[in-house]
Amino acid sequence: MTSAGGRPVSSEAPAKLNFYLHVTGRRADGYHELDSLIVFAAPFDRVSAVPAKDLSLELSGPFAGELNAAGGQNLVEITARRLAELAGIQPAARITLDKQLPVAAGVGGGSSDAAAALRVLTSLWQLNIDLDDLQALALSLGADVPMCLHGKTCFAGGIGERLEAAPALPDCALVLANPGLSLATPNVFNARNGAFTAPARFDEAPADAAALAEILAARRNDLEAPAKMLAPVIDDVLHALASLPGSRLARMSGSGATCFALFDDCDAAVAAAHALRAQHRDWWITPSRIIHPV
Ligand code: C5P
Repeated sequence: MTSAGGRPVSSEAPAKLNFYLHVTGRRADGYHELDSLIVFAAPFDRVSAVPAKDLSLELSGPFAGELNAAGGQNLVEITARRLAELAGIQPAARITLDKQLPVAAGVGGGSSDAAAALRVLTSLWQLNIDLDDLQALALSLGADVPMCLHGKTCFAGGIGERLEAAPALPDCALVLANPGLSLATPNVFNARNGAFTAPARFDEAPADAAALAEILAARRNDLEAPAKMLAPVIDDVLHALASLPGSRLARMSGSGATCFALFDDCDAAVAAAHALRAQHRDWWITPSRIIHPV
């Protein structure tokens, strides 16, 4: 994060991927309980802020239009107001959100933006907020916001807010692909039926992409089937990713529709992304890598 002192304070908001996602139960309030391996990856949105007399939000980047078109209040703006309320101050900042990640796409873009806004505004407003209070605020903004605030590879339990350390993952590369489709998370959860799945955490640190793919192949994303029912094109994305040279595993992330494939290294992922783009010019396709924050 860039330091304050007249200059903008800025924070990256990476993509959040669910390497596996088991739905383990359902609470009385309708939220689903999960066991999921959470990983952060490129590309990033970026949230920046400078001091101002009141609160404003400007959007830029390839997916800014979708947020405008969706109308209503942006989660970054809601985050700013709620943080100021918690701190007992007036929300005043000129915030910019550079939207590089697809919207409603299963890569946690909105949650990651909200977490970045919490980091940026805590610094800009020089707040000293108790960590438990900040996590509680994060959870009230969305079930995935606490994990994005945490920002590190982890296992998530509860409805996504109970975070525990996961074994170190190898430095492997990814291709992300989205067929240009927004899926509303509640619709996907509601379309899920059948039994719940047991948690499936693991202790061993996989040595390379092959070992990681083997571990993940024994697990799954329970939201894949309901998402495919709502959007059958997801099956095409998964087949296309699985067929790419060097692809070790293809899976949907979160509630979709973005899917990822795992590769040994960046060269393989870049070549595969290039090949996939030639076949599907209307899909959002990008090579990616796992981020290992210190
Ligand atoms: O918390 P968030 O606003 O991101 O969740 C959006 C919706 O997704 C919830 O209202 C709920 O329908 C569904 N959801 C769920 N179980 C979770 C997370 C989200 O059922 N663990």
